[in-house]
Amino acid sequence: MSSETEPDGGNSQAPVIRVLTLFPEMVRAVLATSIPGRAERQGQVRYEVTDIRDFAVDKHRTVDDTAYGGGAGMIMMAPPVVEAVEKVRQREDATVILTTPQGETFSEQLTLDLLADLQAKGELILVCGRYKGIDERARELVVTREVSIGDYVLSGGELPALVVVDAIVRRLPGVLHDEDSAANDSFTADREGGLDCAWYTKPPVYRGLDVPEVLMSGHHANIEDWRRRQAAERTRARRPELATAPAEVPKKQKKRD
Ligand code: 6GU
Repeated sequence: MSSETEPDGGNSQAPVIRVLTLFPEMVRAVLATSIPGRAERQGQVRYEVTDIRDFAVDKHRTVDDTAYGGGAGMIMMAPPVVEAVEKVRQREDATVILTTPQGETFSEQLTLDLLADLQAKGELILVCGRYKGIDERARELVVTREVSIGDYVLSGGELPALVVVDAIVRRLPGVLHDEDSAANDSFTADREGGLDCAWYTKPPVYRGLDVPEVLMSGHHANIEDWRRRQAAERTRARRPELATAPAEVPKKQKKRD
């Protein structure tokens, strides 16, 4: 279909992120907001949110049940998840991410991997798990990758899936404008994988607190230098494991007798 004939104003060529969830309204609301919403309105991405419950196989629309072998908590049943993925998936080789605390920890590097995957295939699928988990057979049959957003427990995989989508779409070309500046955010190449520096805006004095003088100097090289050093200091103080190791000073040869 040519873009002129599309009802949505023409973004059928845009890559599609499909989110499968038991809480579609929650997911739609967030994806319509802020930068993820703007990315879709500008035609750089499309979102398709699918209610897994629509793929329940009984008249009560059941999507979870107790675990075989006993134990507290409900498990997402395999059939609705598998049927839903197979219905929405356009490519056999599409990446299907399950959000689960057992997944690999999300990171800026994983963001870039998934962005490349989305651009190469035109499609990325996220299945929002629930905490107790989904039937292992659904995982075996349709899930290709599992992602966690950190070592703490959330009630469901929706917020993690939204975290993943936000991190990816803000990296699509044309999504961020100058005023959303991204190049020197924390974790980016400009910051050498470390944290961002401190930032100030008007007013120049607030409750007796000044803005560092160098930032008011108009001397761009000094300002850049201050920011780089400030970012490096912060990274060392707050996240030493992210700090690039200082160049090793060659040890003096021990005197032997
Ligand atoms: Cl991906 N899911 C849930 N339920 N809790 C989490 C998580 C995911 N990542 C961190 N905590």
